[in-house]
Amino acid sequence: MEQIPVTMTVNGKKVQRFVEPRTLLIHFLREDLDLTGPHIGCETSHCGACTVEMNGMSVKSCTLFAAQANGADLTTVEGMANPDGTLSALQEGFRQMHGLQCGYCTPGMIMRAHTLLKENPNPTEDEIRMGIAGNLCRCTGYQNIVKAIQYAAAKLNGTDFQEAAE
Ligand code: FES
Ligand code: FES
Repeated sequence: MEQIPVTMTVNGKKVQRFVEPRTLLIHFLREDLDLTGPHIGCETSHCGACTVEMNGMSVKSCTLFAAQANGADLTTVEGMANPDGTLSALQEGFRQMHGLQCGYCTPGMIMRAHTLLKENPNPTEDEIRMGIAGNLCRCTGYQNIVKAIQYAAAKLNGTDFQEAAE
């Protein structure tokens, strides 16, 4: 099939490739750029394991063609760590609060949470749960993911995370 040129910025680096028009963005990221953090958990756009940030929005990269990301600025979980290699507040929060088990949903969860905290730096528990409603997790039961996001929000706001009494 005929290939078309695409150019985009991914995790701060400019990339240029030729892609088939039908190539999904998730496959482009994983197979052409070797960014295999974003995962594929479904074929119906529900699970959010493929979530990345594109032009400041959370997008499910299984539901976009790579060609639609032409010219876009993308961030994947591989772009999340701090420049000195330390973990971002969210990555640290997921570890500290045990917000992952198998880790398959985690890259998408972290990318969604990253954008969520830009949209709403001080979310309530309900706002976090609603804010990650597009991301499914088979392992955690979500409770510790909520805490991980609260941990990161507190850290980014310069306060200490206080776990709510259960
Ligand atoms: S792979 Fe499930 S929403 Fe993208
Ligand atoms: S940690 Fe396994 S699916 Fe979320």
